[in-house]
Amino acid sequence: MLIKNIKELFGVREETVFLKGKEMDSLPSIKNAFLRIEGDTIVDYGQMEDLGPQNGEEEINAEGQFILPAWCDSHTHLVFDGSREEEFVDKIKGVSYEEIARKGGGILNSAKRLQEASEDSLYEQAWKRLQEVKKLGTGAIEIKSGYGLTVDAELKMLRVIKRLKENADVEIKATFLGAHAYPMEYKDNHQGYLDLVCKEMMPKVAQEGLAEYVDMFCEAGFFGLEESQQVIDAAKKYGLKVKLHANQLQNSGGVQLGVKNGAVSVDHLECMGEEEIEVLRNSDTIPTLLPFAAFFLRFPFQPARKMIDAGLGVALATDYNPGSAPSGNIPLMIAMSCIQMKMTPEEAINAATINGAFAMGVEKEMGSITKGKKANLIFTKPIPSLAYLPYAFGSNSIDKVLIKGRF
Ligand code: NIG
Ligand code: FE
Repeated sequence: MLIKNIKELFGVREETVFLKGKEMDSLPSIKNAFLRIEGDTIVDYGQMEDLGPQNGEEEINAEGQFILPAWCDSHTHLVFDGSREEEFVDKIKGVSYEEIARKGGGILNSAKRLQEASEDSLYEQAWKRLQEVKKLGTGAIEIKSGYGLTVDAELKMLRVIKRLKENADVEIKATFLGAHAYPMEYKDNHQGYLDLVCKEMMPKVAQEGLAEYVDMFCEAGFFGLEESQQVIDAAKKYGLKVKLHANQLQNSGGVQLGVKNGAVSVDHLECMGEEEIEVLRNSDTIPTLLPFAAFFLRFPFQPARKMIDAGLGVALATDYNPGSAPSGNIPLMIAMSCIQMKMTPEEAINAATINGAFAMGVEKEMGSITKGKKANLIFTKPIPSLAYLPYAFGSNSIDKVLIKGRF
């Protein structure tokens, strides 16, 4: 397939590198470009004037359109049952997120529903969400378990993710998040639940190859530092990579714990001090910001500007889940990151493409326009500039999406 007359092709990179600090502000591009695809792979690109002889392949005219790499959403909880808008209304009336959780709402509310839902119903609901985010440009997505909280329900959830993986063209990575919340019956027996997660669930997850990553809600009141360390140690034992929900509600040492243990990423980061930024600067752990969770729970936004100015590279992800971020809309997330966190459009797009790809281990195949990578592309409508995309935050500026060479 040959795509011709592209007004500007963005995110063109010969080399795949994780972008840090000032590098994040540059999104290399080719004006008046062509792009050639064979099967599901990008094989060539350049300026229209350098387009050599054509070989009768299918042609697409992208006149007036920008093309950019499809999004890599490195943190979601896409598999869940139903929705939780009653809690949304409770929060409007003044009940806090933590209070809701203490009363068996929140994660436990979703867990109860998921335990009762059939695998087919969960699959169908998740499939619909996947189709919706695909239309908004998502070409790769990480999905966590964590609404099961029993051996059976966690495995059921991970099998749903496995089925999505088998049937979807969008690239999917699975994460085991058994340590998401303590079920009511373990309220006074944390060690009992930790043993269940580490000694019963995790061996099965590893044995069936159901996840590549292990995550935990590392937070005072959920999984404390010592409790999280137990989960990390078990993950290491089973050869699973580590991600953490850290520093969402408090500055409680999650970032340091993640870095110390070589976590792939630490995610959320609403509560960050100087020390946390410094610790991340000297590490390979990727700080992943989830602005939807801050927005939806009315928390201060993550200090993206301060982090990037300190030389850090960040990824952005939606956190799509029923409790704190019921949306997988990356264009909206990018707009929010520009408006509320003062990221430039280039920084936000890089954070949701190439840096997001690194945060979910798909950087060799996705996240940029690079020869040999998958043809995962977003075609914009005829908009005046790339900055128009986050500027016109309520409009859908996406015309069509190509995933692995197919519309
Ligand atoms: O990433 N913070 C922990 N877990 C999810 C929210 C879970 C829920 O409220 O259902 C998050 O925000
Ligand atoms: Fe999350």
